[in-house]
Amino acid sequence: MHTANPPYAARRARVAALLGANAVAIVPTAPQQPRNRDSDHPYRHDSYFYYLTGFSEPNAWLVLTADGRSTLFCQPKDLEREIWDGIRLGPDAAPAALGVDEAYSVAELDSRLPRLLENTRTVWYPFATHAGLESRIDGWLQKVRARVRHGALAPDAQRDLCAILDEMRLIKDAHELDIMRRAARISAGAHVRAMQRSAAMLRAGQDVREFHLEAELLHEFRQHGSQAPAYGSIVAAGANACVLHYRADAAPIRDGELVLIDAGCELDGYASDITRTFPANGRFTGPQRALYELVLASQQAAIDATRPGARFTDPHDATVKVLTQGMLDLGLIDKNQHGTLQDAIASRAYFAYYMHRTGHWLGMDVHDCGSYVEPGEIGQVSERRDPLSGEIIKDRPSRILRPGMALTIEPGLYVRPSDKAPKEFWNIGIRIEDDAIVTDTGCELITRDAPVDPDAIEALMRG
Ligand code: GLY
Ligand code: MN
Ligand code: MN
Repeated sequence: MHTANPPYAARRARVAALLGANAVAIVPTAPQQPRNRDSDHPYRHDSYFYYLTGFSEPNAWLVLTADGRSTLFCQPKDLEREIWDGIRLGPDAAPAALGVDEAYSVAELDSRLPRLLENTRTVWYPFATHAGLESRIDGWLQKVRARVRHGALAPDAQRDLCAILDEMRLIKDAHELDIMRRAARISAGAHVRAMQRSAAMLRAGQDVREFHLEAELLHEFRQHGSQAPAYGSIVAAGANACVLHYRADAAPIRDGELVLIDAGCELDGYASDITRTFPANGRFTGPQRALYELVLASQQAAIDATRPGARFTDPHDATVKVLTQGMLDLGLIDKNQHGTLQDAIASRAYFAYYMHRTGHWLGMDVHDCGSYVEPGEIGQVSERRDPLSGEIIKDRPSRILRPGMALTIEPGLYVRPSDKAPKEFWNIGIRIEDDAIVTDTGCELITRDAPVDPDAIEALMRG
């Protein structure tokens, strides 16, 4: 999308102001990834580059200087290539379309970069994100050094541009939140559609497979303009739900089992990330409902803990408390072995059934950038011994939540067959995942067009 949307120029200006005097920032977009022979994977721009340009063509670079000037290098117009690969914006149209000050063909990168770097002190670029970028920059710096004898100054410092961009991206602006809310609505609709298809096919006596439900998700994503799934969709029937990184495959979806779907679309560069777990036929059994309601209650505790001023780890701690009490009550954790809730939490007895974190930042990337440690408290290290592995773990104070941060809230419970778990719960895997934006007073859930209440799920699956 080539738009001269205000956020990009304003973001570039903010970055430029943070570079310090006599500095240059270099941001390449992502390379095209070959799939096999002469087929490429669908192209996905680099998130940092897109954040600063809104430009989604491959083979492009942005150069920012501390005085606020921006230079784009992009693919030149080329009728022959455009007939095969599609229209290119081209350097002549780029300044008007993208608001950059200058634009050149990417073929001029190696000749122009040394000149842009000459007489500056600091080069900023994203560290460890683009294969070969460091050596490319080295090459340009060598050319600058070759001119030192003629009075040129060469930069003497390199800094990680991610440090600036990660902090900016962590707090979403109004433009981003608008897209994220729309992405969330599309994904929620896709989950509803998959639930309804599951029940309808089973009612009709058809052979339902995981891929049938994945097809519903993809249909709904594309139907509403999403470019692609934000990550590989998980559609897990029955026991497959206990495999955390399972993908949609061909397993049969059986009457009486649960289905776990973790899927979200990407819309205009922003991810959504929803998990719903529902009975394949539209009716929870008693044991399924007991575990489902426990996970839902633990999620509500996490939602209540998601507010400005709280720590990133507070929702997780709230979840663990509710889940662990429920595990004790339902006999998943042995009360005789782990007497109290405090004991069971301290010994991490819950870890047998709940082994992942309750959330992550969400934004352009599904696991979005941004430090999970509070920047001002980075030096405060405390040590503890992990009760399960015996390892010494160093903790730093967790990030303090602020309005505009976006994160997922996704507790789960996964019961593999074992002599420690009551048999009625074997092979049940449940996760409920919503996307939240921290507000001035709490958080806004943007994914609740897909219901989580078990009665509401049963109602919409009745058809
Ligand atoms: N779908 C990836 C995640 O939930 O983190
Ligand atoms: Mn997630
Ligand atoms: Mn997910």
